[in-house]
Amino acid sequence: MQRDITKKALERSTYERPAFFYSSAREGMLDLLRNVLQPGRAVALPAFIGWSPNEGSGVFDPVEESGVGRRFYDLNSDLTVDLASLGQTLAAGDVGVLVVIHYFGRTDPAWQEVRRLASEHDVFLVEDLAHGWFSALGRGASGTYGEAQLYSLHKMLPLADGGMVTYRSPGLVSGQASTEHALPGRMLSYDTEAISAHRRLVFERTGTALAELARDDDRFALMWPDMGDDVPQTLPVRITGADRDHVYRYMNEHGVGMVSLYHTLIPQLPAGFDEVRSISRQIINFPVHQDVDPDRVDGIVALFREALDAATTASSPSSDATAERHA
Ligand SMILES: Cc1ncc(COP(=O)(O)O)c(C=O)c1O
Repeated sequence: MQRDITKKALERSTYERPAFFYSSAREGMLDLLRNVLQPGRAVALPAFIGWSPNEGSGVFDPVEESGVGRRFYDLNSDLTVDLASLGQTLAAGDVGVLVVIHYFGRTDPAWQEVRRLASEHDVFLVEDLAHGWFSALGRGASGTYGEAQLYSLHKMLPLADGGMVTYRSPGLVSGQASTEHALPGRMLSYDTEAISAHRRLVFERTGTALAELARDDDRFALMWPDMGDDVPQTLPVRITGADRDHVYRYMNEHGVGMVSLYHTLIPQLPAGFDEVRSISRQIINFPVHQDVDPDRVDGIVALFREALDAATTASSPSSDATAERHA
């Protein structure tokens, strides 16, 4: 006999997606590893992972701290997963947790293939959405296909701290515990739809102005022109024909807050990964956050052109100085 239809929902596990709140994403990742990773198993990470003297390495610090083994897989020139490399990494047979990073808020177009590989090799898939809180709130695949999702709220909202981990189902939770009980209130105090729309608008305008400039300027290349359903954290560009560090300094000295994620890779990255190393030397990210006035985009891109001109003639600074300047 069919069950009665109750007057309100009573089944606690229907659509339940347990969420835990921390002071940072890395604290949440440490909690995840301690509760999810089986002894003797390794964590597989993408090769493009940065480090800075001020911030350490957001995604790598918890792996180091938990003392577990790590394996690195390669990425393509647009930071999408190199599926052949990922397949080889998982075929080694010792990986328990696979991390995919949604760089700058973008979902890998081949996410279904990544999901398939994770299932085939029976690994716990973590979607690192440190840059992708707004993408996960949107309509795309972001945040929907992993066993867990990792968020860094202080990177996406004007908060001093805040991290969150969500799990696909209650069965994936054992001893995980929140440490920041007030964070949900702070997160819900923002109009995330308005912020998402703002970010997409600034991204689109900046991308259009940069594409226009790129028509007769080959000193830089857009990394991806279209965000699909996602919401960007920043807009990444590769500086291919000028000194990136000089452009970075010029823009910041003239009042435009650029970052270079990740200008310095973690020293633990094994030899090889040449394309990722090249991206690290060339990348620079335009701001698209909620405080950027969309009407200032043309001015920002005009300043970028000036910065390229100034940097084309400048000499290369040493890489040691790079880490300090970009921190
Ligand atoms: C891709 C990625 N994952 C995780 C983190 C960790 O974020 P949090 O600073 O909240 O620990 C960061 C930031 O450093 C990051 O860039």
